[in-house]
Amino acid sequence: MTWVITTKMQFYLHEEETLLDGLLRTGHDINYQCREGYCGSCRVQCVSNTVPIEYVIEPIAMLDDDEILPCCCRVQGVIHINHDLIKD
Ligand code: FES
Repeated sequence: MTWVITTKMQFYLHEEETLLDGLLRTGHDINYQCREGYCGSCRVQCVSNTVPIEYVIEPIAMLDDDEILPCCCRVQGVIHINHDLIKD
């Protein structure tokens, strides 16, 4: 089971659910467009994670070292993210 901790709440992801879909399901106000890793709209700050982040689709969008793309990454274990600090 994957637990996600945000500034708003703590929740778990369903089987095969992307981090983006989990964030949207739980009412987080998060931007997204392509869902394929190239627009960068969905990026969030990864504060900590117990299991290394993997990507189903290799991202094309430019990311800082502490940023991830919830639309196309695969997360496991416990991950703490902050989506409030990312502003365009
Ligand atoms: S929605 Fe475009 S990179 Fe995630």
